[in-house]
Amino acid sequence: MHIVTLKFSGRQFSVAAGETVLEAAQRAGVALPYSCRAGVCGSCKATLLEGRCEYPRNPPLALNPGARAQHAVLLCQAVPASDLVIEAREVASARDIARRQIEVVVAARVQLAPEVIGLQLLPASGEPRLNWLPGQYLDVLLQDDRRRPFSIANGPRADGMIELHVRHVAGGGFTSWVSDELRIGDRLRVEGPLGTFVPREDSERPMVFMAGGTGFAPVKAIVEHFMALGTQRSMQVYWGARSAGDIYLRSLAERWASDHPNLQFHPVVSDPEQAMGLRCGLVHEAVLEDQPDLSGHEVYMSGPPAMIHAGHQLFLDAGLPESRLYYDSFEYAPDVLAQIIAARAGISEA
Ligand SMILES: Cc1cc2nc3c(=O)[nH]c(=O)nc-3n(C[C@H](O)[C@H](O)[C@H](O)COP(=O)(O)OP(=O)(O)OC[C@H]3O[C@@H](n4cnc5c(N)ncnc54)[C@H](O)[C@@H]3O)c2cc1C
Ligand code: FES
Repeated sequence: MHIVTLKFSGRQFSVAAGETVLEAAQRAGVALPYSCRAGVCGSCKATLLEGRCEYPRNPPLALNPGARAQHAVLLCQAVPASDLVIEAREVASARDIARRQIEVVVAARVQLAPEVIGLQLLPASGEPRLNWLPGQYLDVLLQDDRRRPFSIANGPRADGMIELHVRHVAGGGFTSWVSDELRIGDRLRVEGPLGTFVPREDSERPMVFMAGGTGFAPVKAIVEHFMALGTQRSMQVYWGARSAGDIYLRSLAERWASDHPNLQFHPVVSDPEQAMGLRCGLVHEAVLEDQPDLSGHEVYMSGPPAMIHAGHQLFLDAGLPESRLYYDSFEYAPDVLAQIIAARAGISEA
Protein backbone atom coordinates (compact mmCIF):
# COMPACT_ATOMS: atom_id res chain seq x y z
CA MET A 1 0.00 0.00 0.00
CA HIS A 2 1.22 3.52 -0.83
CA ILE A 3 0.13 6.99 0.29
CA VAL A 4 -0.70 9.78 -2.16
CA THR A 5 -0.52 13.38 -0.94
CA LEU A 6 -2.13 16.21 -2.96
CA LYS A 7 0.09 19.25 -2.87
CA PHE A 8 -2.41 22.11 -2.64
CA SER A 9 -5.00 20.67 -0.27
CA GLY A 10 -2.63 18.41 1.66
CA ARG A 11 -5.26 15.65 1.41
CA GLN A 12 -3.94 12.13 1.60
CA PHE A 13 -5.32 8.76 0.56
CA SER A 14 -3.98 5.24 0.39
CA VAL A 15 -3.65 3.19 -2.80
CA ALA A 16 -3.95 -0.60 -2.61
CA ALA A 17 -1.61 -2.85 -4.58
CA GLY A 18 -2.41 -2.72 -8.31
CA GLU A 19 -4.90 0.13 -7.91
CA THR A 20 -4.59 3.30 -10.00
CA VAL A 21 -4.33 6.70 -8.33
CA LEU A 22 -7.73 7.64 -9.78
CA GLU A 23 -9.46 4.50 -8.47
CA ALA A 24 -8.00 5.06 -4.99
CA ALA A 25 -8.98 8.74 -5.02
CA GLN A 26 -12.56 7.87 -5.93
CA ARG A 27 -12.69 5.27 -3.15
CA ALA A 28 -11.51 7.97 -0.74
CA GLY A 29 -14.05 10.55 -1.98
CA VAL A 30 -11.41 12.76 -3.61
CA ALA A 31 -12.69 14.14 -6.95
CA LEU A 32 -9.77 14.28 -9.37
CA PRO A 33 -10.45 15.14 -13.04
CA TYR A 34 -10.98 12.33 -15.56
CA SER A 35 -12.95 11.38 -18.63
CA CYS A 36 -11.99 8.33 -20.78
CA ARG A 37 -10.38 6.14 -18.05
CA ALA A 38 -8.20 4.54 -20.74
CA GLY A 39 -5.09 6.74 -20.89
CA VAL A 40 -5.92 8.40 -24.20
CA CYS A 41 -7.75 11.71 -23.55
CA GLY A 42 -5.38 13.45 -21.12
CA SER A 43 -8.02 15.01 -18.88
CA CYS A 44 -6.59 13.24 -15.79
CA LYS A 45 -3.12 14.70 -16.39
CA ALA A 46 -1.33 15.78 -13.20
CA THR A 47 2.24 16.56 -12.16
CA LEU A 48 4.23 14.10 -10.12
CA LEU A 49 6.34 16.05 -7.60
CA GLU A 50 7.72 13.10 -5.63
CA GLY A 51 7.73 9.34 -6.06
CA ARG A 52 7.44 6.88 -8.93
CA CYS A 53 4.53 5.40 -10.94
CA GLU A 54 4.16 2.49 -13.30
CA TYR A 55 1.71 1.84 -16.14
CA PRO A 56 0.88 -1.88 -16.00
CA ARG A 57 -2.48 -1.44 -17.78
CA ASN A 58 -2.62 0.86 -20.82
CA PRO A 59 0.45 2.93 -21.74
CA PRO A 60 0.00 6.68 -21.08
CA LEU A 61 -0.75 7.51 -24.72
CA ALA A 62 -2.02 11.00 -23.88
CA LEU A 63 1.43 12.08 -22.66
CA ASN A 64 3.90 13.25 -25.26
CA PRO A 65 7.64 13.01 -24.51
CA GLY A 66 7.72 16.71 -23.50
CA ALA A 67 4.96 16.19 -20.91
CA ARG A 68 6.67 13.08 -19.52
CA ALA A 69 9.94 15.01 -19.24
CA GLN A 70 8.06 17.55 -17.11
CA HIS A 71 6.88 14.72 -14.82
CA ALA A 72 3.28 14.63 -16.07
CA VAL A 73 1.34 11.49 -15.10
CA LEU A 74 -2.06 10.10 -16.11
CA LEU A 75 -3.97 9.38 -12.92
CA CYS A 76 -6.40 6.92 -14.59
CA GLN A 77 -3.54 4.57 -15.46
CA ALA A 78 -0.73 5.40 -13.00
CA VAL A 79 -0.13 2.76 -10.32
CA PRO A 80 2.17 4.01 -7.55
CA ALA A 81 5.50 2.24 -7.08
CA SER A 82 6.20 4.38 -3.97
CA ASP A 83 4.47 7.04 -1.90
CA LEU A 84 3.59 9.99 -4.15
CA VAL A 85 3.18 13.76 -3.93
CA ILE A 86 0.99 15.03 -6.78
CA GLU A 87 -0.11 18.41 -8.07
CA ALA A 88 -3.64 17.89 -9.38
CA ARG A 89 -6.77 20.01 -9.66
CA GLU A 90 -9.57 18.68 -7.49
CA VAL A 91 -13.13 19.19 -8.81
CA ALA A 92 -14.75 19.93 -5.48
CA SER A 93 -18.34 20.16 -6.78
CA ALA A 94 -18.22 16.56 -8.07
CA ARG A 95 -17.01 15.18 -4.74
CA ASP A 96 -20.13 14.48 -2.73
CA ILE A 97 -22.51 12.85 -5.18
CA ALA A 98 -23.06 9.16 -4.53
CA ARG A 99 -22.52 6.94 -7.57
CA ARG A 100 -25.13 4.23 -7.92
CA GLN A 101 -26.37 1.55 -10.30
CA ILE A 102 -30.05 1.63 -11.19
CA GLU A 103 -32.40 0.03 -13.69
CA VAL A 104 -34.05 2.45 -16.10
CA VAL A 105 -36.90 2.13 -18.60
CA VAL A 106 -36.86 3.68 -22.07
CA ALA A 107 -39.70 6.22 -21.94
CA ALA A 108 -39.05 7.89 -25.31
CA ARG A 109 -36.93 7.26 -28.37
CA VAL A 110 -36.54 9.90 -31.12
CA GLN A 111 -34.49 9.89 -34.32
CA LEU A 112 -32.72 13.24 -33.86
CA ALA A 113 -30.51 12.94 -36.97
CA PRO A 114 -29.80 10.12 -39.45
CA GLU A 115 -27.18 8.60 -37.12
CA VAL A 116 -28.35 9.98 -33.75
CA ILE A 117 -31.07 8.67 -31.47
CA GLY A 118 -32.37 10.63 -28.51
CA LEU A 119 -33.45 8.55 -25.51
CA GLN A 120 -35.41 9.49 -22.42
CA LEU A 121 -34.85 7.06 -19.56
CA LEU A 122 -36.86 6.93 -16.33
CA PRO A 123 -35.96 5.00 -13.17
CA ALA A 124 -37.77 1.63 -13.15
CA SER A 125 -40.48 1.29 -10.54
CA GLY A 126 -39.00 1.16 -7.02
CA GLU A 127 -35.57 2.38 -8.17
CA PRO A 128 -34.08 5.58 -6.73
CA ARG A 129 -33.30 8.57 -8.96
CA LEU A 130 -29.73 9.20 -10.02
CA ASN A 131 -28.24 12.50 -8.96
CA TRP A 132 -25.62 14.24 -11.08
CA LEU A 133 -24.06 17.54 -12.05
CA PRO A 134 -24.87 18.96 -15.49
CA GLY A 135 -22.29 17.64 -17.99
CA GLN A 136 -21.54 14.35 -16.23
CA TYR A 137 -21.94 11.00 -17.93
CA LEU A 138 -23.17 7.52 -17.04
CA ASP A 139 -22.12 4.04 -18.06
CA VAL A 140 -24.67 1.73 -19.64
CA LEU A 141 -23.85 -1.67 -18.13
CA LEU A 142 -23.69 -4.57 -20.57
CA GLN A 143 -22.95 -8.24 -20.09
CA ASP A 144 -19.46 -9.48 -19.11
CA ASP A 145 -18.63 -6.32 -17.15
CA ARG A 146 -18.56 -4.22 -20.32
CA ARG A 147 -19.73 -0.60 -20.10
CA ARG A 148 -20.54 2.09 -22.61
CA PRO A 149 -20.23 5.76 -21.53
CA PHE A 150 -22.83 8.36 -22.57
CA SER A 151 -23.18 11.97 -21.46
CA ILE A 152 -26.40 13.04 -19.82
CA ALA A 153 -27.95 15.82 -21.92
CA ASN A 154 -30.04 17.37 -19.13
CA GLY A 155 -29.67 18.42 -15.52
CA PRO A 156 -31.32 16.38 -12.73
CA ARG A 157 -35.14 16.58 -12.60
CA ALA A 158 -37.71 15.65 -9.99
CA ASP A 159 -38.96 12.67 -12.06
CA GLY A 160 -35.40 11.36 -12.52
CA MET A 161 -35.56 11.60 -16.33
CA ILE A 162 -32.22 11.08 -18.08
CA GLU A 163 -31.77 12.27 -21.68
CA LEU A 164 -29.08 10.69 -23.88
CA HIS A 165 -28.01 11.45 -27.47
CA VAL A 166 -26.59 8.24 -28.92
CA ARG A 167 -24.62 8.32 -32.17
CA HIS A 168 -24.48 5.08 -34.13
CA VAL A 169 -20.87 3.87 -34.46
CA ALA A 170 -20.21 1.64 -37.50
CA GLY A 171 -19.44 -1.83 -36.17
CA GLY A 172 -20.34 -0.80 -32.63
CA GLY A 173 -22.28 -3.42 -30.65
CA PHE A 174 -24.33 -1.27 -28.29
CA THR A 175 -25.04 1.72 -30.53
CA SER A 176 -26.08 -0.62 -33.39
CA TRP A 177 -28.49 -2.30 -31.00
CA VAL A 178 -29.90 1.11 -29.96
CA SER A 179 -30.28 2.02 -33.61
CA ASP A 180 -31.87 -1.21 -34.82
CA GLU A 181 -33.63 -2.86 -31.90
CA LEU A 182 -34.13 -0.78 -28.78
CA ARG A 183 -37.81 -0.03 -28.18
CA ILE A 184 -39.84 2.08 -25.75
CA GLY A 185 -40.35 0.04 -22.56
CA ASP A 186 -36.98 -1.74 -22.82
CA ARG A 187 -34.86 -1.76 -19.67
CA LEU A 188 -31.21 -0.84 -19.23
CA ARG A 189 -28.87 -0.91 -16.24
CA VAL A 190 -26.83 2.25 -15.79
CA GLU A 191 -24.23 3.54 -13.34
CA GLY A 192 -23.55 7.20 -12.60
CA PRO A 193 -22.71 9.89 -12.22
CA LEU A 194 -19.23 9.80 -13.72
CA GLY A 195 -16.74 12.34 -14.99
CA THR A 196 -15.73 15.86 -14.09
CA PHE A 197 -16.96 17.82 -17.12
CA VAL A 198 -19.13 20.07 -14.95
CA PRO A 199 -19.94 23.79 -14.62
CA ARG A 200 -17.30 25.94 -12.91
CA GLU A 201 -19.19 28.73 -11.21
CA ASP A 202 -16.39 30.45 -9.34
CA SER A 203 -15.51 33.11 -11.92
CA GLU A 204 -17.00 35.85 -14.09
CA ARG A 205 -14.91 35.03 -17.17
CA PRO A 206 -16.51 34.73 -20.60
CA MET A 207 -17.19 31.14 -21.62
CA VAL A 208 -16.72 29.36 -24.94
CA PHE A 209 -18.52 26.05 -25.50
CA MET A 210 -17.46 23.85 -28.39
CA ALA A 211 -19.42 20.70 -29.23
CA GLY A 212 -18.78 18.21 -32.02
CA GLY A 213 -21.73 16.01 -33.07
CA THR A 214 -23.33 14.40 -30.01
CA GLY A 215 -20.79 16.32 -27.91
CA PHE A 216 -23.70 18.75 -27.81
CA ALA A 217 -25.33 16.56 -25.11
CA PRO A 218 -23.21 17.62 -22.08
CA VAL A 219 -22.77 21.15 -23.46
CA LYS A 220 -26.57 21.44 -23.55
CA ALA A 221 -26.80 20.38 -19.90
CA ILE A 222 -24.11 22.84 -18.80
CA VAL A 223 -25.44 25.78 -20.85
CA GLU A 224 -28.99 25.17 -19.57
CA HIS A 225 -27.58 25.15 -16.04
CA PHE A 226 -25.89 28.53 -16.50
CA MET A 227 -29.04 29.98 -18.10
CA ALA A 228 -31.15 28.72 -15.17
CA LEU A 229 -28.72 30.44 -12.78
CA GLY A 230 -29.35 33.68 -14.71
CA THR A 231 -25.67 34.16 -15.47
CA GLN A 232 -24.67 37.39 -17.20
CA ARG A 233 -21.36 35.90 -18.34
CA SER A 234 -20.80 35.83 -22.10
CA MET A 235 -21.54 32.36 -23.58
CA GLN A 236 -20.36 31.61 -27.11
CA VAL A 237 -21.78 28.22 -28.13
CA TYR A 238 -20.15 26.55 -31.16
CA TRP A 239 -21.58 23.33 -32.53
CA GLY A 240 -19.73 21.57 -35.34
CA ALA A 241 -20.98 18.66 -37.44
CA ARG A 242 -20.54 17.23 -40.92
CA SER A 243 -23.90 18.37 -42.28
CA ALA A 244 -26.57 20.92 -41.38
CA GLY A 245 -28.91 18.01 -40.54
CA ASP A 246 -26.44 16.75 -37.92
CA ILE A 247 -26.94 19.98 -35.92
CA TYR A 248 -29.98 18.19 -34.66
CA LEU A 249 -31.21 20.64 -31.98
CA ARG A 250 -30.39 23.80 -33.88
CA SER A 251 -33.77 25.42 -33.19
CA LEU A 252 -33.26 24.88 -29.44
CA ALA A 253 -29.84 26.56 -29.50
CA GLU A 254 -31.22 29.40 -31.65
CA ARG A 255 -33.95 29.90 -29.05
CA TRP A 256 -31.33 30.12 -26.30
CA ALA A 257 -29.63 32.89 -28.28
CA SER A 258 -32.83 34.84 -28.90
CA ASP A 259 -33.87 34.57 -25.23
CA HIS A 260 -30.43 35.41 -23.74
CA PRO A 261 -28.55 38.48 -25.07
CA ASN A 262 -25.31 37.21 -23.48
CA LEU A 263 -25.44 33.94 -25.51
CA GLN A 264 -24.49 33.59 -29.18
CA PHE A 265 -24.89 30.36 -31.12
CA HIS A 266 -22.52 29.43 -33.97
CA PRO A 267 -23.37 26.31 -35.99
CA VAL A 268 -20.44 25.17 -38.19
CA VAL A 269 -20.57 22.51 -40.90
CA SER A 270 -17.49 20.72 -42.24
CA ASP A 271 -18.93 19.43 -45.55
CA PRO A 272 -19.52 22.48 -47.81
CA GLU A 273 -22.02 20.51 -49.89
CA GLN A 274 -24.22 19.91 -46.86
CA ALA A 275 -23.94 23.32 -45.21
CA MET A 276 -27.32 24.68 -46.38
CA GLY A 277 -26.22 28.26 -45.81
CA LEU A 278 -24.46 27.64 -42.48
CA ARG A 279 -20.86 28.61 -41.79
CA CYS A 280 -18.41 26.12 -43.33
CA GLY A 281 -15.20 24.80 -41.84
CA LEU A 282 -13.85 23.01 -38.79
CA VAL A 283 -15.45 24.07 -35.56
CA HIS A 284 -12.22 24.64 -33.61
CA GLU A 285 -10.97 26.88 -36.44
CA ALA A 286 -14.21 28.88 -36.26
CA VAL A 287 -13.67 29.38 -32.52
CA LEU A 288 -10.18 30.70 -33.14
CA GLU A 289 -11.23 32.94 -36.04
CA ASP A 290 -13.73 34.64 -33.71
CA GLN A 291 -11.67 34.48 -30.51
CA PRO A 292 -7.98 34.60 -31.41
CA ASP A 293 -7.00 35.47 -27.83
CA LEU A 294 -8.40 33.00 -25.29
CA SER A 295 -6.24 34.12 -22.37
CA GLY A 296 -9.21 35.58 -20.49
CA HIS A 297 -11.72 32.79 -21.25
CA GLU A 298 -12.90 29.45 -19.95
CA VAL A 299 -13.47 26.78 -22.59
CA TYR A 300 -15.75 23.74 -22.35
CA MET A 301 -15.48 21.23 -25.19
CA SER A 302 -16.84 17.76 -25.88
CA GLY A 303 -17.08 15.47 -28.85
CA PRO A 304 -14.94 13.36 -31.15
CA PRO A 305 -11.33 12.71 -30.06
CA ALA A 306 -9.84 14.33 -33.19
CA MET A 307 -11.69 17.60 -32.49
CA ILE A 308 -10.70 17.55 -28.82
CA HIS A 309 -7.07 16.87 -29.66
CA ALA A 310 -6.90 19.70 -32.22
CA GLY A 311 -8.77 22.14 -29.97
CA HIS A 312 -6.62 21.29 -26.96
CA GLN A 313 -3.34 22.26 -28.57
CA LEU A 314 -4.58 25.27 -30.55
CA PHE A 315 -6.54 26.77 -27.65
CA LEU A 316 -3.49 26.60 -25.38
CA ASP A 317 -1.47 28.23 -28.19
CA ALA A 318 -4.13 31.00 -28.21
CA GLY A 319 -3.27 31.78 -24.58
CA LEU A 320 -5.88 29.68 -22.74
CA PRO A 321 -4.40 28.38 -19.45
CA GLU A 322 -4.73 24.58 -19.31
CA SER A 323 -6.47 24.85 -15.94
CA ARG A 324 -9.38 26.64 -17.67
CA LEU A 325 -9.89 24.07 -20.42
CA TYR A 326 -12.56 21.51 -19.47
CA TYR A 327 -13.38 18.62 -21.77
CA ASP A 328 -14.86 15.20 -22.40
CA SER A 329 -13.39 13.32 -25.32
CA PHE A 330 -15.90 10.81 -26.76
CA GLU A 331 -13.52 7.87 -26.85
CA TYR A 332 -14.68 4.26 -27.12
CA ALA A 333 -15.23 2.37 -23.88
CA PRO A 334 -12.15 1.50 -21.77
CA ASP A 335 -12.40 -2.25 -22.53
CA VAL A 336 -12.50 -1.61 -26.29
CA LEU A 337 -9.62 0.88 -26.16
CA ALA A 338 -7.57 -1.56 -24.06
CA GLN A 339 -8.07 -4.24 -26.74
CA ILE A 340 -7.19 -1.86 -29.58
CA ILE A 341 -4.09 -0.59 -27.75
CA ALA A 342 -2.97 -4.15 -26.91
CA ALA A 343 -3.51 -5.25 -30.53
CA ARG A 344 -1.46 -2.29 -31.82
CA ALA A 345 1.35 -3.04 -29.34
CA GLY A 346 1.33 -6.67 -30.52
CA ILE A 347 1.61 -5.55 -34.16
CA SER A 348 4.49 -3.15 -33.46
CA GLU A 349 6.37 -5.83 -31.47
CA ALA A 350 5.92 -8.42 -34.22
C1 LIG B 1 -17.01 10.37 -21.28
C2 LIG B 1 -17.67 9.91 -22.55
C3 LIG B 1 -18.93 10.38 -22.88
C4 LIG B 1 -19.54 9.96 -24.08
N1 LIG B 1 -20.76 10.46 -24.38
C5 LIG B 1 -21.33 10.13 -25.56
C6 LIG B 1 -22.61 10.68 -25.93
O1 LIG B 1 -23.22 11.45 -25.18
N2 LIG B 1 -23.12 10.33 -27.13
C7 LIG B 1 -22.47 9.49 -27.99
O2 LIG B 1 -22.99 9.22 -29.08
N3 LIG B 1 -21.27 8.92 -27.66
C8 LIG B 1 -20.70 9.23 -26.46
N4 LIG B 1 -19.49 8.67 -26.13
C9 LIG B 1 -18.89 7.67 -27.04
C10 LIG B 1 -19.58 6.32 -26.82
O3 LIG B 1 -19.31 5.85 -25.51
C11 LIG B 1 -19.08 5.26 -27.83
O4 LIG B 1 -19.43 5.68 -29.12
C12 LIG B 1 -19.70 3.91 -27.48
O5 LIG B 1 -19.07 3.41 -26.33
C13 LIG B 1 -19.61 2.92 -28.63
O6 LIG B 1 -20.18 1.72 -28.16
P1 LIG B 1 -20.55 0.49 -29.10
O7 LIG B 1 -20.80 -0.68 -28.20
O8 LIG B 1 -21.59 0.86 -30.08
O9 LIG B 1 -19.23 0.29 -29.93
P2 LIG B 1 -18.05 -0.73 -29.57
O10 LIG B 1 -18.54 -2.13 -29.69
O11 LIG B 1 -17.45 -0.30 -28.30
O12 LIG B 1 -17.06 -0.46 -30.78
C14 LIG B 1 -16.54 0.83 -31.05
C15 LIG B 1 -15.69 0.77 -32.32
O13 LIG B 1 -14.51 0.03 -32.04
C16 LIG B 1 -14.43 -1.05 -32.93
N5 LIG B 1 -13.88 -2.15 -32.15
C17 LIG B 1 -14.49 -2.82 -31.15
N6 LIG B 1 -13.64 -3.74 -30.64
C18 LIG B 1 -12.50 -3.64 -31.33
C19 LIG B 1 -11.23 -4.32 -31.27
N7 LIG B 1 -11.01 -5.29 -30.39
N8 LIG B 1 -10.26 -3.96 -32.14
C20 LIG B 1 -10.45 -2.98 -33.07
N9 LIG B 1 -11.64 -2.30 -33.17
C21 LIG B 1 -12.63 -2.63 -32.30
C22 LIG B 1 -15.82 -1.31 -33.47
O14 LIG B 1 -15.85 -1.89 -34.74
C23 LIG B 1 -16.37 0.10 -33.50
O15 LIG B 1 -15.99 0.77 -34.69
C24 LIG B 1 -18.87 9.05 -24.94
C25 LIG B 1 -17.60 8.57 -24.58
C26 LIG B 1 -17.02 8.99 -23.40
C27 LIG B 1 -15.66 8.48 -23.03
S1 FES C 1 -6.37 9.78 -20.05
FE1 FES C 1 -7.00 9.44 -18.04
S2 FES C 1 -9.10 9.90 -18.06
FE2 FES C 1 -8.52 10.03 -20.16
